[in-house]
Amino acid sequence: MIQGSNHSVIPGLPAGYLHSIFGYSSTVEHRRAFVFDAVAALNALKSSWQNLPPNWIGPDPCGSSWEGITCTNSHVTSIVLAGMGVIGSMSGDILSFSGLQYLDLSNNKDLTGTLPPSIGNLKNLSSLILVGCSFFGPIPDSIGSLQQLVFLSLNSNSFSGSIPPSIGNLSNLEWLDISNNKLNGTIPVSDGTIPGLDMLVSTKHFHFANNLLYGAIPPQLFSSNMVLIHVIFDNNQFTGNIPFSLGLVQTLEVVRLDWNSFSGSVPSNFNNLTSVNELYLSNNNLTGPIPNLTGMNFLDYVDMSNNSFNVSDVPPWVSRLQSLTTLLMEHTQLQGQIPVNLFSLPHLQNVVLSNNHLNGTLNIGTSYNNQLMLDLQNNSIANFAQSAGYNIELTLMENPICEGAGASERYCSVSQPSNSSFLTPSNNCTSVVCSSDKVSSPNCKCAYPYIGTLNFRSFSFSNLTNSSYFIFLEGSLMSVFLSNLLPVDSVSVSNPTINIYSYLQVRLQVFPSGQDYFNRTEISTIGTLLNRQSFQPLSYFGPFYFIDENYCCFAGPNKSSNIGIIVGAVVGSFVLVLLLVCAGIYAFHQKRIVKTATEQNPFASWSPDKSNGNAPQLKGARSFSFEEIKKCTNNFSEANGIGFGGYGKVYRGTLATGLVVAIKRAQQGSLQGALEFKTEIELLSRIHHKNVVSLVGFCYEKGEQMLVYEYIPNGTIRESLSGKSGIRLNWMRRLRIALDSARGLAYLHELANPPIIHRDIKSNNILLDEHLDAKVADFGLSKLMGDSEKGYVTTQVKGTLGYMDPEYYMTQQLTEKSDVYSFGVVLLELITARAPIEKGRHIVREMEEVISKSKDPHNLHGILDPTIGLGATLGGLEQFVNLAMSCVKESGPDRPTMGEVVRKIENIMQLASLNENTESTFASSSNEEEAERNSNHPYGNEAFDYSGGFIPFDIQHY
Ligand SMILES: *[C@@H]1O[C@H](CO)[C@@H](O)[C@H](O)[C@H]1NC(C)=O
Ligand SMILES: *[C@@H]1O[C@H](CO)[C@@H](O)[C@H](O)[C@H]1NC(C)=O
Ligand SMILES: *[C@@H]1O[C@H](CO)[C@@H](O)[C@H](O)[C@H]1NC(C)=O
Repeated sequence: MIQGSNHSVIPGLPAGYLHSIFGYSSTVEHRRAFVFDAVAALNALKSSWQNLPPNWIGPDPCGSSWEGITCTNSHVTSIVLAGMGVIGSMSGDILSFSGLQYLDLSNNKDLTGTLPPSIGNLKNLSSLILVGCSFFGPIPDSIGSLQQLVFLSLNSNSFSGSIPPSIGNLSNLEWLDISNNKLNGTIPVSDGTIPGLDMLVSTKHFHFANNLLYGAIPPQLFSSNMVLIHVIFDNNQFTGNIPFSLGLVQTLEVVRLDWNSFSGSVPSNFNNLTSVNELYLSNNNLTGPIPNLTGMNFLDYVDMSNNSFNVSDVPPWVSRLQSLTTLLMEHTQLQGQIPVNLFSLPHLQNVVLSNNHLNGTLNIGTSYNNQLMLDLQNNSIANFAQSAGYNIELTLMENPICEGAGASERYCSVSQPSNSSFLTPSNNCTSVVCSSDKVSSPNCKCAYPYIGTLNFRSFSFSNLTNSSYFIFLEGSLMSVFLSNLLPVDSVSVSNPTINIYSYLQVRLQVFPSGQDYFNRTEISTIGTLLNRQSFQPLSYFGPFYFIDENYCCFAGPNKSSNIGIIVGAVVGSFVLVLLLVCAGIYAFHQKRIVKTATEQNPFASWSPDKSNGNAPQLKGARSFSFEEIKKCTNNFSEANGIGFGGYGKVYRGTLATGLVVAIKRAQQGSLQGALEFKTEIELLSRIHHKNVVSLVGFCYEKGEQMLVYEYIPNGTIRESLSGKSGIRLNWMRRLRIALDSARGLAYLHELANPPIIHRDIKSNNILLDEHLDAKVADFGLSKLMGDSEKGYVTTQVKGTLGYMDPEYYMTQQLTEKSDVYSFGVVLLELITARAPIEKGRHIVREMEEVISKSKDPHNLHGILDPTIGLGATLGGLEQFVNLAMSCVKESGPDRPTMGEVVRKIENIMQLASLNENTESTFASSSNEEEAERNSNHPYGNEAFDYSGGFIPFDIQHY
């Protein structure tokens, strides 16, 4: 039996998950060598490591399903031994798996030694996860030759020495976590000959916390073409200024620079980091003015405590940060009155302004949140406006108001920090008393849970007594486990605490279902899911790592016993002989295995004419054979390449019928699970509207996943607006485009069955066909919208910066109105030709300002696109602007529906046609221009730039 066709790399994990974490190579030529290497290497491991899974018996790890080992076409492609209690040291042996793609040895506290330089031989490795082991010594320089590496986590070991500059060569790296080690030295940057971390322009995570790194952060480390979302540098020994260049990384969401020795003032361009949610600058030696964070509209948690900023009033902008839950500015030289409107921020939970020079009368107003905790110890406050009656947790100790005899006991004593003892409530079941050391699950079943600690590096709240956050966390984790087919009964989170370094720690218990114990594979799958974090980010909770307690008792008849060891040893000694005997047989075996794999392929039975249960229900789209596609793209020739994105390449092809198509071919790493692929094509095939790009068919053969779309020749409207495509758009043409795309979107919202929220409407996703009719493309982030899901809280906010509905961003309530917002931004683009965010300014605000300055619509000319037709009367322009502005209203219910938008644009077009002069629709274009435009195809680059990979439909867990 083969353990793992192309669709299961970790046993028990469905294919969709796997493809997102593995990606796979198909170097068939060296297969035989791999098998030989793998068996030899695994046997070497068996002799040097203890506590390995007892079923590692027999000559063929792939043939007999060794726990923790997964094979693809008989290559050992993954080794996941997380949390298995393995004892031993890393040797060169594991490093002879040249086909290995995924290696997770996390949470084996007795796995020790240094990482041998030969680790650089694992050329196909895409994930290396060694969280919570006991490795020490330097990180070998050879790590920089793992060119396929996407995920590198060496967190919580004892690595020392400096960060190898060669890591800068890992051009595919998305996650770099070296936290909680003993690394020292400075951060390496490139200098023309030596590589450095500034070269990591695909990396989203720099997690360097809790080391001994020192020196100034080289300004060169950051640049505007980086895509970092988390910069986590806290608890090191960094000195010098915070580099200005950090303020150029627009994608940042979490910035932790706390507990270092940074000095100087905070760069003024921090204000441009409009996506930051959590900002930690505390416990440094920062001077100069308190940074102006007015632009950080989504800031929910900010800690600037314990710095030496200039004496200053409480900055007025803090009262405008609508998402703010937590404001920590202890010991920051604040003076004067606290502005009363700070307390009316709707989500505010915790304000610590102790040890400052605040004075006057404290006034918290009337519209404060009664979950608020307010710590104003050691200031100069003399009065309290609401002293007669208020409903928050407040301390004013060591203020004049608390001196003398009449001091209120209520607010002049230390308020007990309300540490939560959150414990999962029972799910309507009668509690049971468990025998021996079993534990009762939230479902009142006794079992042996897998226990550990989740350590969150950031989080958006600070009220630990509000259980909704933890119930939400349990639900999220539960669905991650269930969607990976793990037998989990329930998940329990307890004892949340925030430690002095502002890390949130919670105890996690995962209970098995239908059995008392988890087996090894299940434990290691849970462990790898948690530390690999390839699921969607959890709302309210930032990145984390998971450190377990050794699991007490693995399930299974193979419970480590003497017999197992003896059998293992005896069998082991036969292995070499067996190998030699069998070496010849392998070649034959291989062929058979490959064949079996195809037969097991759930879609082998797909064909356009069979309608058995497996075949996707397609309306109007057809299945193409690989040969057919190969032929029509001239064997995927370079000449036919028309674009490239995160998911893979796009080719133009001409079908036998003469139809020109665009073919999106998923590359390794972007492939998704069979079921997801099937769901997606079923859905796409049901979409038929002249203003929506339609699916012609798909190819699912030979391990390929391709989508075949109609070819749209004239590029995106962004390209036209920016002048790139050579198509000039006059006023009428722009109105037409607005109408077409509004109709397409209205169709998705109101007529598609099930309705679809696009989630990524932008000018790069609206394409122009040969008649310059607009079509909505790429439901890259779409979400099916069953009635039950309407308005449901989603787990991850997706979309493109600048187009994203701020309400959706803050509440995570996804409705059609979020698309309406994005569409409003596109309407503004249509008249200004500006990108939604330019020079840190959002087009909506810019427009609001222009409008508020004058009611005269002619004044818009300053912001209008000059090529729109200067001199001509733009009939309906004022109405158009009004419509756009109604689409971007702050509150969803105030925005029109897409149906209403369509009708409004129709009216505006009538107005416009009244004074339309007979202009040609676009400048005449020569053939060269035509050719040039076509080379710049809509499916290329930005047009389909969603990050999630090939597949549009992100399967939501909720
Ligand atoms: C803060 O920055 C905003 C722009 O984001 C600016 O309008 C405002 O004047 C600044 N405030 C101060 C106090 O510098
Ligand atoms: C509060 O402090 C500020 C600055 O030190 C000072 O100008 C002001 O007069 C003080 N107000 C009161 C009521 O003491
Ligand atoms: C707990 O937090 C949730 C999520 O922020 C919020 O909606 C709810 O109102 C809070 N509950 C209480 C009692 O404050």
